[in-house]
Amino acid sequence: LDHLDHRAEGLKDVVRHGYDEASYRYRPEPGDVDRFRHSAAEYEGWLGELYRRLPPGAEVLDLGCGIGVPVARRLSERFRVTGVELSPIQVARARRLAPKVEILEDDMTRVEFSAGRFSGVVAFYSIIHVPLREQPALFDRIARWLRPDGVLVATLGETAWEGIEEDWLGSGASMYWSHTDRPTYRAWLEERGLRVIEERFVPEENAGHALFVAVRAGGSG
Ligand SMILES: C[S@@+](CC[C@H](N)C(=O)[O-])C[C@H]1O[C@@H](n2cnc3c(N)ncnc32)[C@H](O)[C@@H]1O
Repeated sequence: LDHLDHRAEGLKDVVRHGYDEASYRYRPEPGDVDRFRHSAAEYEGWLGELYRRLPPGAEVLDLGCGIGVPVARRLSERFRVTGVELSPIQVARARRLAPKVEILEDDMTRVEFSAGRFSGVVAFYSIIHVPLREQPALFDRIARWLRPDGVLVATLGETAWEGIEEDWLGSGASMYWSHTDRPTYRAWLEERGLRVIEERFVPEENAGHALFVAVRAGGSG
């Protein structure tokens, strides 16, 4: 499988370079709405279960935190937040814009955390850039990092698609996406003891994503 691993690393380079080049096009500063018209208020609406279920000061992980706004910075007003981000430009902006968040420049499929460390994990529009063959193992990791009763909130694929777009957002760089469909994601979560308590379609231009909220089984509630 060696050549597949090399291919996966090459695709990560495409994503890393693509976000380095398109960072400011995707989300200008201070900008309340991103290139795809998702507003800070819309993201805020996706965080409700974290606010309801987690005590202040709980540890929350943001996978593919981008420039740290709107989500990581907002969560850091109440929780202890760690962000993981692949693109150095995104990391630099996040460290400036979300100073209370600990930002790790790393690949979410490689970074290590101790089991049960996090009460919440969020991943918005980021897992859809991870090569699909690496995603089942990534969900294993997420399930392990969450404590019992911990909450996962993520935007994942609505329909299956994998491909590369050239000159993404007019940046000159390419971008790569890879995702399966909503029923497969639901099964992958449930198989790992991540009980889906909410899912809904989030439209975007002519397509859209699936928002999942899941709770790790094994707690008292
Ligand atoms: C579409 S942006 C979304 C950023 C932020 N979550 C938001 O919703 O505004 C996706 C981010 O995920 C990051 N990303 C993609 N693959 C990653 C990986 N394997 N590890 C860490 N970050 C990754 C990208 O660099 C990019 O900043």
